Amino acid sequence: MSIDSSTDSNSLAARSCDTLIRNVSVIDGSGSPAYVADVALADGRILCIDATPGALAGWQATHVVDGSGKVLSPGFIDVHTHDDTNVIRTPSMMPKLSQGVTTVIVGNCGISAAPVTLKAEPPDPMNLLGEASAFSYPTFASYVEAIKQAQPAINVAALIGHTALRSNQMDRLDRAASDTEIAAMCEQLREALAHGALGLSTGLAYGNAINAPTAEVLALAEPLAQAGAIYATHLRSEFADILEAMDEAFRIGKHARVPVVISHLKCAGVENWGRSSEVLEALEQAQRYQPVGCDCYPYTASSSTLDLKQVTDTIDIMVTWSEPEPAMGGKLLAEIAAEWQVDLMEAARRLQPAGAVYHCMQDDDVNRILSHPASVVGSDGLPNDPLPHPRLWGAFPRVLGYYSREQKLFPLTVAIRKMTGLSAERFGLAERGLVREGYWADLVLFDAETVRDAATFADPMQPAEGLEAVWVNGALSYLGGVLKAPTELRVGRFLARQAGPKTAVAN
Ligand code: ZN
Ligand code: CU
Repeated sequence: MSIDSSTDSNSLAARSCDTLIRNVSVIDGSGSPAYVADVALADGRILCIDATPGALAGWQATHVVDGSGKVLSPGFIDVHTHDDTNVIRTPSMMPKLSQGVTTVIVGNCGISAAPVTLKAEPPDPMNLLGEASAFSYPTFASYVEAIKQAQPAINVAALIGHTALRSNQMDRLDRAASDTEIAAMCEQLREALAHGALGLSTGLAYGNAINAPTAEVLALAEPLAQAGAIYATHLRSEFADILEAMDEAFRIGKHARVPVVISHLKCAGVENWGRSSEVLEALEQAQRYQPVGCDCYPYTASSSTLDLKQVTDTIDIMVTWSEPEPAMGGKLLAEIAAEWQVDLMEAARRLQPAGAVYHCMQDDDVNRILSHPASVVGSDGLPNDPLPHPRLWGAFPRVLGYYSREQKLFPLTVAIRKMTGLSAERFGLAERGLVREGYWADLVLFDAETVRDAATFADPMQPAEGLEAVWVNGALSYLGGVLKAPTELRVGRFLARQAGPKTAVAN
């Protein structure tokens, strides 16, 4: 907070702004306590914040908003998304905007829309980003240009997927890349970094990347260090071998001298339940020597393509889509198997390609990881799934409503920090993630007593409740309340990597 001394009663009349939000409880994203202030926005940025009651009362404003009883926080930053093609194909971005998300980071889990030149159908799990026709960005520069043309309602920053690079350069993905292929992948990565990509992501658990040895990723991590970029990874295993997989990620980060982000950190699988303390201890251990953090979504179920390696009768697996058997969407794999009188594995095989929700986590583990100081929130929502995991529409309000207000897992100031300030710091997004004078005016106005996720597994495409308004780059872009609608102002920007992340060590 800063008190602008020039706003005494004599100079007030002369000042003007585009939007004045009055008498609002500011939670600024730094973790500091809430305070009541007037906030003035102009030219896309936060012009003035004044906590003196009535200090900005004399200001001329095109729009005046009464914020009494409401919270104003930085717009939420969804650090883990698969919105790569959706920011262009569905630029209103309702699933995210309606949650208060003002920035998405695309290109996670080793899959990105750019730079990509497909030879055939998109390899698994790149098919989560859309059909072959959705991939038309052979260079990262062409992708950035397409975002600018599409003018999405929210800001976009991007990682480059390792599996995407492999698919560009290799004839088959069930082997290690050769030196020549690695050199070609590095070249594409350099082009992307030069045009503002944040870093590299891997999805080493997936069939199309699992045969990439550590050395292949290490070679790709070298251009990252030169650019001050980051390494985000969907670990090689989230099951029994999770500690070994974390160790691999830390070795890559340490060797290449780049910050590591472990994507959607979890203890998956019944045999793995209860191991979160051990896992977080390993993370803390690594933090002593190198910048390490993680993201996490606030649910005990995961979702991706239907993976034969994850087929088990110990948890519920819901099929969300199936190309050959579309009518099976919404049914449990066990129900389908019973109906067809085959075992689970055979049913899963017949459904391919398909998508699924796996109820594979335990409450205690999710609570421990979500509340750990190293974790920030990312939805991992799958926008092209006809029956998407509810995290697509509900992740951020769920942290505020269910986890902070109801379960009291952490105070609201901490919840907000995990969705804004810490996220911006971790991913190097300059002048975002805090309510600060001079920062970009990405802001959310919400009612802390009523904000909640409305999306459920049975009915997942429901906008959240309690969100009043969302500003992106100073423009009122979404109205909640009874309207629950975008304002048609779409002023999101492509956010190029600016500063390298200061540190990813917990704070
Ligand atoms: Zn993933
Ligand atoms: Cu993901």
